[in-house]
Amino acid sequence: MSRLKDRAAIVTGAASGIGRASAELFASEGARVLAVDRPGAEMTFEHPGIVAFEQDVSADAAPDAIVGAALAAFGKLDILFNNAGVGANALAANMTDEQWDWVQSINIRAVFRLSRAAIPHIVASPAGRIISTASVMAQGTDYGLAAYCAAKAGVLGLTRTLALELGKHGVTANAVLPGAIRTGMTQASFANPGNAEVWAKKSVLRRLGEPIDVARVALFLASDDAGFVTGQAIAADGGMTLRI
Ligand SMILES: NC(=O)c1ccc[n+]([C@@H]2O[C@H](COP(=O)([O-])OP(=O)(O)OC[C@H]3O[C@@H](n4cnc5c(N)ncnc54)[C@H](O)[C@@H]3O)[C@@H](O)[C@H]2O)c1
Repeated sequence: MSRLKDRAAIVTGAASGIGRASAELFASEGARVLAVDRPGAEMTFEHPGIVAFEQDVSADAAPDAIVGAALAAFGKLDILFNNAGVGANALAANMTDEQWDWVQSINIRAVFRLSRAAIPHIVASPAGRIISTASVMAQGTDYGLAAYCAAKAGVLGLTRTLALELGKHGVTANAVLPGAIRTGMTQASFANPGNAEVWAKKSVLRRLGEPIDVARVALFLASDDAGFVTGQAIAADGGMTLRI
């Protein structure tokens, strides 16, 4: 398949889970992919065209380093997939400044800063795309998720504004909202069969999501098929959020 033929893409958080599945899927659809993850992260890919790049996305110099690496490797940039993310679990009453700042620095500040650095190059693309991984927790919540929910809600606000400001250049900006997906982030929790069952049952499809379930939505948003879709938040949650 070649739905992303000759497109140049950056995928962050690409060593694991949703990012890894997306990097592989984008590459299998013809994209050249810069796969970004933390220094020391294990980055081996099945697709030979994926270029691994070690970089903490929250570092001050990260945006220039990441965009510079993509331009050096591919000569252009068409797709930015802001996917790297972390979670801290603490009740608001107990959450430290360090926990709050750590989550904001990766889950929203780095998304803004990398998008800003990518804009001059993405507007030059005939099919520029900015995609960001938010979460169903951008619109809902759970105990202990104050920092995570605030950051992911911020991703939706940023996405809408990017869509508004970049639309005249033909660039789309959208967010994907995963539900309960079996990844590195949820590994410890879902290793407990009781927990895994509770979360699987929250989905009307009665199963946990897999990284590929979200990667396919990211592929749709990155492809020409989504050329008239912008500013949207698309849930890939197995219907978890249907019930109130
Ligand atoms: N798994 C779920 O159920 C779920 C649900 C909703 C949203 N999400 C979101 O999906 C995205 C991907 O997470 P995942 O579930 O695939 O988890 P994951 O832990 O498998 O993958 C996240 C990747 O991001 C990388 N990363 C974290 N901080 C980084 C940094 N500072 N610099 C560079 N890379 C960094 C990690 O090393 C890891 O490889 C995250 O934004 C997460 O918030 C996940």
